[in-house]
Amino acid sequence: MHPSAALTATLAIVGTALAGANLPRQASSIPSSCPGVTARTTYKLSVATGWRYTLLASGLTKPRSLLFDTEGHLLVLEAGKGLTAHTLGADGCIASSKTVISMAQLNHGLALSPDGKTLYVSAAPTAWSYAYDAKTMTATNQQVVVKGMNPGGHNSRTLAVPPNRPDLLIVSLGSGGNIDEPTIAKETGRAIVKVFDLGKTPAGGYTYNTQGWYLGYGLRNEVALVFDGNNMVWGVENSGDQLTRVVGGKSVDVHIDNPAEELNYLGDPSKSNEQWYGYPTCWTVGDPKVITDKTFKVGQQFMISPNATFDDASCAAKSMPPRLSIKAHSAPIDGKFDKAFANMYVSLHGSWNRQPATGYKVVQIPFQKLNDSRYDPVAPQDSAAGYSDVLWTQNEGGCSGSTCLRPTGITWHPDYSKMYVGSDGSVGEIYLLYKA
Ligand SMILES: *[C@@H]1O[C@H](CO)[C@@H](O)[C@H](O)[C@H]1NC(C)=O
Ligand SMILES: *[C@@H]1O[C@H](CO)[C@@H](O)[C@H](O)[C@H]1NC(C)=O
Repeated sequence: MHPSAALTATLAIVGTALAGANLPRQASSIPSSCPGVTARTTYKLSVATGWRYTLLASGLTKPRSLLFDTEGHLLVLEAGKGLTAHTLGADGCIASSKTVISMAQLNHGLALSPDGKTLYVSAAPTAWSYAYDAKTMTATNQQVVVKGMNPGGHNSRTLAVPPNRPDLLIVSLGSGGNIDEPTIAKETGRAIVKVFDLGKTPAGGYTYNTQGWYLGYGLRNEVALVFDGNNMVWGVENSGDQLTRVVGGKSVDVHIDNPAEELNYLGDPSKSNEQWYGYPTCWTVGDPKVITDKTFKVGQQFMISPNATFDDASCAAKSMPPRLSIKAHSAPIDGKFDKAFANMYVSLHGSWNRQPATGYKVVQIPFQKLNDSRYDPVAPQDSAAGYSDVLWTQNEGGCSGSTCLRPTGITWHPDYSKMYVGSDGSVGEIYLLYKA
């Protein structure tokens, strides 16, 4: 599966030839392997035709989020450890690594201001900012930006700064449990995405549930927040487990392929979005066949137990369904568009609540630019096949817990020659994923 040495040599020559053409300094070769980096895991990967992969790093501490600083260093949020910075050599492999922030509480979120000078990181209750010097890879002047994020239940706090709005910080906060009933009121401050004005941060930071504005509510666990070419936000949602449907007074298990995970359009982060996306009442149909009392299409929403005052039709009238459905229990973690905004790449961390298991892969969702300039998936809303696998664990159905690729953060190299994909399974790893 790895590229041949000959191919790498060819790329290196092209890289050298282009270097004279004033390309970014980072335009680098793609290694077929890295010295001293060997797989410490036993799972086997497959990759789509036209793609290749290389194991870049192994033995990290749960890499969750990845991005590049303005000097071409790869920043990695390692959950339980802190933030590390990795300098890439001319061969594209990691030449040296440095701990930028040593803090065991950090568990997921990582963002950088568009000018590269302010870092944002998160633990379950708190998001902090730091002044960041990319030349020396140092972070100083820690400040609390957002606090009071109700630890418990879902603990990742995805952070994102819009490329066109360095003054805004978007923070996602999932539900407290599988079906967190009180979140039907957005004021509980859970199962929502919020936006904070960094120009007006109060001393000691914002309080999450009473300040800032909404970028949607009724969002069970919007772990991936992705900007399209108009800087509009897409959320990728981890939906519920163990779902049933009450049919004729009896609870029927529908959980294997229901509810679908969701790709939601959250829109312009500079404006409040108080649209309800259905959680914890309306769930997205992944497999209509097992809901036998009503005819649904994929992507429509159903209730566990419809009643006289609120039923599936109420969901259709009041809740915003996803723009695209993703296989139930896949557990999407991160997403990034390619340079042309023609595809969104999404990491599917993998399931515990599906038999056979699913996920443990990176997929691509084709997008198009509509005549009104909006970006939108190519597949229709009722499609269950609006995406395809790019990198996946062989025999994914047999995967469990940490035994397989567990893809997390995705980031592109600044020259868009390759993606860097984290994996936080039994061994923390980073893969390069690229067309070849
Ligand atoms: C009907 O369902 C709605 C939505 O879950 C709920 O708020 C309401 O209490 C239910 N009504 C009855 C009578 O069970
Ligand atoms: C854009 O408009 C053209 C001409 O009206 C039409 O043929 C085409 O299908 C439209 N494309 C999309 C993506 O809507």
